Amino acid sequence: MEPLLKMSGITKTFPGVRALSNVSFDLNKGELHALVGENGAGKSTLMKILSGLYKADEGDLFLKGEKIVSTGLREMINLGIGVIYQELNLIPYLSVSENIFLGREPKTSFGTIDWSRMHEMTREALAPFKLDIEPQQKVYSLGAAHQQIIEIAKALSLNAEILVMDEPTAALTGNEVERLFEIIKQLKKAGVSIIYISHRLEEVHTLADRITILRDGERVITKDRGTMSNDEMIKYMVGRVLEEQYPQYDSEPGAIVLEVRGLTKKGICSDVSFAARAGEIFGFVGLVGAGRTEIMQTIYGYRKMDSGEVLLHGNPVKIRNCQDAVMKGIGLIPEERKQQGLILGMSVFDNAALSVLDLYSTAGVLHRRRITDEVNTMIDSMNIKTPSVKQLVINLSGGNQQKVVLAKWFIRHCDVYIFDEPTRGIDVGAKVEIYRLMQNLAKRGAAVIMISSELPEVMNISDRAAVVFEGRIVKEFRKGELNEEQVMEYSLGLHERRRA
Ligand SMILES: Nc1ncnc2c1ncn2[C@@H]1O[C@H](COP(=O)(O)OP(=O)(O)OP(=O)(O)O)[C@@H](O)[C@H]1O
Ligand SMILES: [Mg+2]
Repeated sequence: MEPLLKMSGITKTFPGVRALSNVSFDLNKGELHALVGENGAGKSTLMKILSGLYKADEGDLFLKGEKIVSTGLREMINLGIGVIYQELNLIPYLSVSENIFLGREPKTSFGTIDWSRMHEMTREALAPFKLDIEPQQKVYSLGAAHQQIIEIAKALSLNAEILVMDEPTAALTGNEVERLFEIIKQLKKAGVSIIYISHRLEEVHTLADRITILRDGERVITKDRGTMSNDEMIKYMVGRVLEEQYPQYDSEPGAIVLEVRGLTKKGICSDVSFAARAGEIFGFVGLVGAGRTEIMQTIYGYRKMDSGEVLLHGNPVKIRNCQDAVMKGIGLIPEERKQQGLILGMSVFDNAALSVLDLYSTAGVLHRRRITDEVNTMIDSMNIKTPSVKQLVINLSGGNQQKVVLAKWFIRHCDVYIFDEPTRGIDVGAKVEIYRLMQNLAKRGAAVIMISSELPEVMNISDRAAVVFEGRIVKEFRKGELNEEQVMEYSLGLHERRRA
């Protein structure tokens, strides 16, 4: 049978990088074909060629057996190909409605935008996700997860025949993921064909009819569902056997470094108290929207607290803003790399150097050599895929951009590190390295706080963890004290409901 879509012999190079070499890939009607591979393997590039954003240097695309002659962005949308990009592409200062229907707004009989109709269509588009979002809300006021859902809703509203999802769940947790899976099931039933990219390998096993693995721009193998174990898949991706997914180490918690007492901020959190010790990794678990990020931002001086106290090494401190926090030895590594963590138009080197300028200069003279050494060490240990440190960050793959954000902070010595979803979008091999680097920070005497929505990760990597539900810490536990299911129950607020 003729596949619905066929990409054949696709090659694409960028200055200094061969992103794809002679890659073939096809998609059958109603199938979900997963595309996996390490950060920088070429997954997004292949999909950008399919969406018409990039032109292939070599190779052809066929739809229903017919060669596609013109592959522009418009043309590909008209052919029924919808793409949910890995990077969020929403316009922050426009509303949710405007973002979803930009350029195809419903009109009144007078030819003006029919706002009430548009808001209603937006409500319909968002309904399957059961979220508390108003169509009029500006996008910048939403967190990463909700923005991701709007991207998905937007692509779905195009009624595409072929839908590309480039890491749709990277910013989602629990409920949202389940809803997305439900939607995917319905789409497949309706005959929609899906190309699905993810670093969460369990998802791939659950969803995929077929799996294709890319490594260094080449197709390694394509296999049917259930014919490949997880270890095999990892081996094909990484090119070697991965010994341990969660490196173990014996922590030796020391004195309390950061203590928070009764932190309260209306609408965000109430009475949050915890203490993070030197030498330990302290996890923060919870659902998207539980307030974990906001709690950390409040501690960090990004939002003003209503009441409460922050103590560093036992001394009460006032943190006025982010610079102030950094000067006091606290680093916050944000979840939204594009908005908060990186300057995309600057090089890998300059981005990394920015965070250590004050440390690596004397009398205004920058120690470029030392910084270069540090940055290069990070590029090696995290396997950041870039032709050189001079490459602009915007040209790196999504996962590699995330690694640069982390590198910035790994080379800066802080007393407290707050990592917000540090391994989002990071491939299995590099994750292990990031855990090791975090453990090294702890060994060096720092208190490391990690917000993570990946339960197995928090449960395995943190020495202690707090569960946040509706802006409050509802449970604190030591490693091994609770199982995943119990933690999930606290995250969902089930314990309170039972008590009430
Ligand atoms: N516009 C560009 N200019 C230069 N190099 C690029 C550009 N886009 C991608 N690359 C390079 O091509 C390679 C493949 O990148 P791609 O984004 O396809 O990876 P990926 O498999 O999607 O990775 P990730 O899992 O991190 O998203 C990378 O080395 C990347 O740096
Ligand atoms: Mg990508």
